[in-house]
Amino acid sequence: MAYECNNCGYTSVEWLGRCPKCGEWDSFKGEDSDSPPPERFVDEAPKPLSEISFASKERIRTGIGEFDRILGGGLLPGAVILLGGEPGIGKSTLLLQAATKLSDLGRVLYVSGEESSKQLKMRAERLGLDSDNLIIYSGQSLEKAVGHVDEIEPICVIVDSIQSLQLSDSTTSLGSTKQVRELGREFTRLAKKKEIATLLIGHITKSGDFSGPKSIEHLVDSTIYFEGKRDRNLRLLRPEKNRFGSTELLGLFQMTEDGLEEILNPSGFFAKKDGRTGKKGTSTVCTVEGNRPILAEVQALVTRSSYGGTPQRRTTGLDYNRTSLLLAVLQKQLGINLEEFDIYLNVVGGFTVEETAADLGIVSAILSSFHDRGIDGQTVLIGEIGLSGEIRPVKSLASRINEAEKLGYRLALVPEDNRDRVSSDSELQLRPVSTLKGAVSELGLEG
Ligand code: TYD
Ligand code: MG
Repeated sequence: MAYECNNCGYTSVEWLGRCPKCGEWDSFKGEDSDSPPPERFVDEAPKPLSEISFASKERIRTGIGEFDRILGGGLLPGAVILLGGEPGIGKSTLLLQAATKLSDLGRVLYVSGEESSKQLKMRAERLGLDSDNLIIYSGQSLEKAVGHVDEIEPICVIVDSIQSLQLSDSTTSLGSTKQVRELGREFTRLAKKKEIATLLIGHITKSGDFSGPKSIEHLVDSTIYFEGKRDRNLRLLRPEKNRFGSTELLGLFQMTEDGLEEILNPSGFFAKKDGRTGKKGTSTVCTVEGNRPILAEVQALVTRSSYGGTPQRRTTGLDYNRTSLLLAVLQKQLGINLEEFDIYLNVVGGFTVEETAADLGIVSAILSSFHDRGIDGQTVLIGEIGLSGEIRPVKSLASRINEAEKLGYRLALVPEDNRDRVSSDSELQLRPVSTLKGAVSELGLEG
């Protein structure tokens, strides 16, 4: 017999007064062994692989390009997708926009357990959305929601959110792991039985805890995270698990007054090409997110620390440990003493660049600010920096070059010994570099 914490799903062989994982008191109520094992969808006679056939189903496009791309071309009938994200990030907005577009193709049921139909209508008006085919059920009963699905026969069901619905005969509390799991099971069964594309919204707490919705990840076909900082308007759709598509994808949106807008040209959004001379302390890097090359602008500000104070090191959108390492290499290899300087680093537009291919760009931005000398605004810097100051190869160089080319950049510094050597017959010139020293002198940033 096993006991399970109602709050976080922690299991224990004995009953506990307080959960050792989440610290909740008196949360071990249910005995998991009482609940039936997960149901299989069908029970079939064994047959040879060669004799199994399936009709390839048409994907239903949500009409939001960035969303469809992440979904591998659209929603498959019967597919269950979990959309996770922090409260307020824009999950309801995204799915209301998608639901309205989807309702051009057939009836869509929006189950709203969090907001009244009036609140939903207000949001729709604000977004300029309306539809006869989008049916709103505002309520918290799973049984009623299922009843409405039977009645309405929608092509798509949206559940907002999986933590806000309840089973009438359940002993578990609203939003608990156990409850979420039961709901996930019910909606998955329904989706498979009736071949309805189903989108489940799940809230993640600030600390990244996804304990409730996480517990149904194995049931759903795809888990997609909607991320961003609330004080910034950039939003990212990132698939974590994707049974019908790739996880090597990234969808980009901007939260505006009129709802979510797709960012169709990310490089143009994150890196604005300047004239001949770039701004001081600024460089352009090319990072690959998923399989998508994106140009981004790195900014550095290097100023003398106040006398006797500890030098400040701040990074936004960059990995702090990586930049510390780069500073050490910079000091050692170029003999520049930055100990008496404050250094602030930032990636423009709220984007996060974690790839080491941006190393060269980061170091160059720092030097540019330090020497008060600009880097040509039409140059892209690509390369990882090794501990001894060598410029190391990066993956997908060709696609990075391609992106820079497309956007009209004129020069790219690239690692000399990159395996996938690329040639460029366009306006973009490639300058292979093998050491940090060499790169720095190419850029006119030496001491
Ligand atoms: P919402 O979709 O309600 O978030 P979630 O469902 O993930 O909790 O989004 C709420 C936030 O989005 C809210 O702070 C206001 C903002 N917002 C806009 O900036 N523009 C809009 O057009 C809409 C509808 C919301
Ligand atoms: Mg919401």
